[in-house]
Amino acid sequence: MIIGLLNQKGGVGKTTLSVNLAASLSRTGARVLLIDADPQGSALDWAAARQAEQIFSVVGLPRATVHKEIGQIGQGYDHIVIDGPPRVTDLARSAIMAADVVLIPVQPSPYDIWAAEEVVKLIEEARIYKESLKAAFVVNRKIANTAIGRDVREALAAYPVQVLASSVTQRVVFAEAAAQGLAVHEIDQNGSAASEIEAVAAELMEFAR
Ligand SMILES: Nc1ncnc2c1ncn2[C@@H]1O[C@H](COP(=O)(O)OP(=O)(O)OP(=O)(O)O)[C@@H](O)[C@H]1O
Ligand SMILES: [Mg+2]
Repeated sequence: MIIGLLNQKGGVGKTTLSVNLAASLSRTGARVLLIDADPQGSALDWAAARQAEQIFSVVGLPRATVHKEIGQIGQGYDHIVIDGPPRVTDLARSAIMAADVVLIPVQPSPYDIWAAEEVVKLIEEARIYKESLKAAFVVNRKIANTAIGRDVREALAAYPVQVLASSVTQRVVFAEAAAQGLAVHEIDQNGSAASEIEAVAAELMEFAR
């Protein structure tokens, strides 16, 4: 399965969810490759900060040819996660064309909901060439028991892209883990952050089948 984490909006959690989903998928023994398709190289920074043993491979490929190169680069892997760039449209387009399923993180804020229009347009455009392309929103940095946390689903329903039932809460452990090049389950195996990531991964695999 090739999962692309995309959103033209910056700072929504593409890299955070990419590394944690890759880690979650590799927990089951699957061979996982994380492609950093962002010129900022944040996923590569994450890998460089890591002192623990590597649990999945990370390569940098910030080129608009990811969709052409992925067949060769992805050989021998069970799952590939692509951490997409913000803004740069040609790179995002290529990452979308490379993916079987696009996961779009959105924060529960009106700005994020409005900005999602851009990535939805790219998805619709890609579907002209690739009818089978699947895409879903995932709410990230949800703040428990807030009205905006509930309203975001309703607002996103206006787009022709599904919203995953599972979401990810705003938790300090995501930043703490990233600082050490770790996944949240490596900090707290039974923690709420780890179980939310597991739930997103499971729902996504089911959705993309
Ligand atoms: N669920 C969360 N809880 C707490 N902090 C989070 C969460 N998700 C992301 N963050 C923090 O938000 C910031 C932005 O996240 P991240 O870098 O993953 O976003 P991005 O979409 O990859 O950004 P960019 O568009 O710049 O690539 C980071 O500091 C990250 O630690
Ligand atoms: Mg990023």
